[in-house]
Amino acid sequence: MQKTLVLVKPDGVKKSLIGEVVARFERRGLKVCALKLMQLTEAQAKAHYAEHAEKPFFGELVDFITSGPVAAMVIGGENAIKAVRTMMGTTNPVDAVPGSIRGDYALSIAENIVHGSDSEESAAKEVSNFFKPDEILF
Ligand code: RTP
Ligand code: MG
Repeated sequence: MQKTLVLVKPDGVKKSLIGEVVARFERRGLKVCALKLMQLTEAQAKAHYAEHAEKPFFGELVDFITSGPVAAMVIGGENAIKAVRTMMGTTNPVDAVPGSIRGDYALSIAENIVHGSDSEESAAKEVSNFFKPDEILF
C-alpha cells in the first residue's frame, strides 16, 4: 500500500470542506490512515515548502498555510500518490477539470484547498514530518 500526505489547507477548513475532501477519498476506495487538525508554525511551513524557498511566492505561501488550522491526513491505497493528485486537480484551479477538488471548489492558485505529496520521496518525507509512527493507525 502506498501512503501520501494530504492537507486540507486553511481555505478548505474555513469553507467547511474537510468532510467533503475526506469523503471523496473514502468513496474512491482510499483509506484514511491518520488524521488530525493542526496549526502549522512558520518553521513547519517553511520546512514543508522548502522546495519553493527561492520562488517569488514563497512568503505568501508560508503566510497562507499558517493563516489558520489545516487538516492533515495520511491517505493510503494502491497508487495513492497519483490517485490523490489526479483527484485534487491542477495547481491552478482555473485549469482544473470540474469533478476534481480544485475544479469544484477553488478559483485562486494561492488558495487551492488541498495539498498532496507529489512523489514517493516527498510522500515519505512529508508523512514523517507531520505524523509520528504511532499516529498512523492503518
Ligand atoms: P501543493 O504542493 O500545495 O499540493 O500544490 P502543487 O503540488 O499542485 O503545486 P506546487 O508547485 O507544489 O506549489 C505549491 C503551492 O504554491 C502555490 N503556487 N503559487 N503564484 C504562483 O505561480 C504559484 N505557483 C504555485 C500554490 O498554492 C501551490 O499549491
Ligand atoms: Mg507541491
